[in-house]
Amino acid sequence: MKNISLKGKVAIVTGGSMGIGKAAALAFARQGAQVCVADWEPTKGEETVKEIIANDGRAFFQKVDVSSESQVREMVQATLSKYGRLDFAFNNAGIAGDQKPTGDNSVDNWNKVIGVNLTGVWLCMKEEIPHMLKQGGGVIINNASILGSVGFAGASAYTASKHGVIGLTQVAAIEYGPKNLRVNAVCPGFIVTPMLERAGLLADPAVVQNISNLHALKRMGKPEEVADTVVWLCSEEASFITGQPIFVDGGYTAQ
Ligand SMILES: NC(=O)c1ccc[n+]([C@@H]2O[C@H](COP(=O)([O-])OP(=O)(O)OC[C@H]3O[C@@H](n4cnc5c(N)ncnc54)[C@H](O)[C@@H]3O)[C@@H](O)[C@H]2O)c1
Repeated sequence: MKNISLKGKVAIVTGGSMGIGKAAALAFARQGAQVCVADWEPTKGEETVKEIIANDGRAFFQKVDVSSESQVREMVQATLSKYGRLDFAFNNAGIAGDQKPTGDNSVDNWNKVIGVNLTGVWLCMKEEIPHMLKQGGGVIINNASILGSVGFAGASAYTASKHGVIGLTQVAAIEYGPKNLRVNAVCPGFIVTPMLERAGLLADPAVVQNISNLHALKRMGKPEEVADTVVWLCSEEASFITGQPIFVDGGYTAQ
């Protein structure tokens, strides 16, 4: 993407160890921001940090389970201790959960998916917002999904969680707009990441083709395409955008 200077700014990226979060952490650092790479998976998280530092960026790893209030508080505190401020947060960590029809979904799966994808995003916002307000503003981007807007068979908990993320985003945008805090969501289509790999969606070329065909552009997206949108939304170039679900979906929801 073109050069947007974020020099002197500080960003938290949850789920920064791999996939979309890793691409976003690298993209923030490339534009000069200092990054807290937060994840519950430390090995890959430290690799993201090493990659940023090898490219002359600044970053540190913070272990967090975003569904834990105390760990999320520690994540924000650690960022403030390390870099002294907080300008941007990409609340991205998420899980797919089991793929089962609504009537077969277990309470355990429901609670896990809602706990990470929805409660986790809210907990992050709850801890991030007061510090941004103290500084006179900031930008929060929550990772929702195309499934924040439409349904998908077998993904009841996931779809409910992502619809919730969009609602939460809109409420916070209205509440904190007057205080110079912008809150948006990104809604990716199918993006080639370890999440899809684990779900077995990338191994068979016929499956890849079928999923690709669901998008107007007839392909899946790349993590970098979501990451660039996130960084752009945080920049001054997007200064009048708030409360929006921004679809980075190759036209999936246009059809
Ligand atoms: N890949 C897609 O097609 C797609 C599409 C739409 C939305 N999304 C959303 O994008 C986000 C990232 O997805 P991805 O595809 O990069 O997934 P991924 O599995 O490749 O990466 C997710 C990262 O989040 C971390 N994580 C998961 N639960 C966590 C928790 N409780 N606390 C801290 N870290 C946690 C994982 O360790 C991992 O590093 C998710 O919210 C997902 O729902 C993905």
